[in-house]
Amino acid sequence: MTLVDPHGRRINYLRLSVTDRCNLRCRYCMPAEGRVKVGHGDILSYEELLRVARAAVAIGVEKIRVTGGEPLVRRGIIDFLRRLAAIPGLRRLVLTTNGVMLPEMAVPLRDAGVESLNISLDSLRPETFAAITRGGDLRQVLAGIAAAESAGFRFIKINVVVMRGVNDDELEEFAALTLDRPYRVRFIEYMPTLAEPGWEATVMPGAEILARLSRRFAMTDEASENLAGPARYQRIAGAAGLVGVITPVSCHFCGDCNRIRVTSTGIAKSCLFDCGTVDLRPVLAGGDDAALRDALCRVVAEKPDRHQLTEGGGEKGRIDMDRIGG
Ligand code: GTP
Ligand code: 5AD
Ligand code: SF4
Repeated sequence: MTLVDPHGRRINYLRLSVTDRCNLRCRYCMPAEGRVKVGHGDILSYEELLRVARAAVAIGVEKIRVTGGEPLVRRGIIDFLRRLAAIPGLRRLVLTTNGVMLPEMAVPLRDAGVESLNISLDSLRPETFAAITRGGDLRQVLAGIAAAESAGFRFIKINVVVMRGVNDDELEEFAALTLDRPYRVRFIEYMPTLAEPGWEATVMPGAEILARLSRRFAMTDEASENLAGPARYQRIAGAAGLVGVITPVSCHFCGDCNRIRVTSTGIAKSCLFDCGTVDLRPVLAGGDDAALRDALCRVVAEKPDRHQLTEGGGEKGRIDMDRIGG
């Protein structure tokens, strides 16, 4: 089945958050005082998540990205992923992680049927990494990336949220990682998820990032893969991997948006930002899978044509990144 939204976009990608919990406290994701955690009873069970995933595939979803919080902290995740991967009609199962648990989990994840990993890593300097994550240990994530590479994932994408004055002096060093490693290093514009005034000063626009890199490296455009997300890629001459930019703030990739989201508490969202939502819990409680498919179609029908971040939307309200999963 083909699922098309009111703006003519084909929707074939579901981002499914399995937990709001995390073993890091990234400063762009969570306030310093932390967040009130959702009670275990309010999180969808794996059975419910599987029902949501099957309903999504039945209406046209071909790719599922599992997110968090940090998805690998939820107990039983490997078995859940194995069952998810087995859904007939699902073409790609992928996951976004902070990498901390990959040293022990990379091989089981690959064996469960996860095809590719997106790993968050915002600094290659131990002190800066610890400051951004409020106490994280860079060595664990580097070991995690190495473990992922040995485990044989199709793509390993490294997500770098660029913050002016925090890690923007590391762009070249991150890009240079792609020279001899097959990674896709993606520089992401910082989004004002905590609704703080003056957030624009922290954003380094994608165009500026690329201009900086092209002063140091010769780069050429690369085509995006099938079922891709918002990254646009370039290859440094002779490099094994790719560099990319994701520009949620400066440039609207909304025109190509192909996705919906479901949070770990069962809220289906039509967009990352302020948007139409549908609470799936009453539908799940009713036990009718046709109603579940209808509810997901309703959320697709609610999709806005674009987000309003740069029209003052950044200060309006916070985005629960830890619940939505990016
Ligand atoms: P793939 O292309 O499948 O690898 O996925 P992705 O790049 O969309 O996924 P990932 O979880 O690695 O997210 C990378 C960044 O893109 C994060 O900062 C997300 O918040 C952001 N992002 C992903 N989807 C959207 C979207 O629909 N809108 C906006 N504004 N940002 C998004
Ligand atoms: N701005 C940009 N990217 C963010 N992410 C989390 N919060 C933000 C933000 N405020 C990214 C994480 C992770 C992905 C799921 O979303 O770094 O890689
Ligand atoms: Fe955890 Fe990811 Fe949020 Fe960092 S951005 S605190 S790793 S959920």
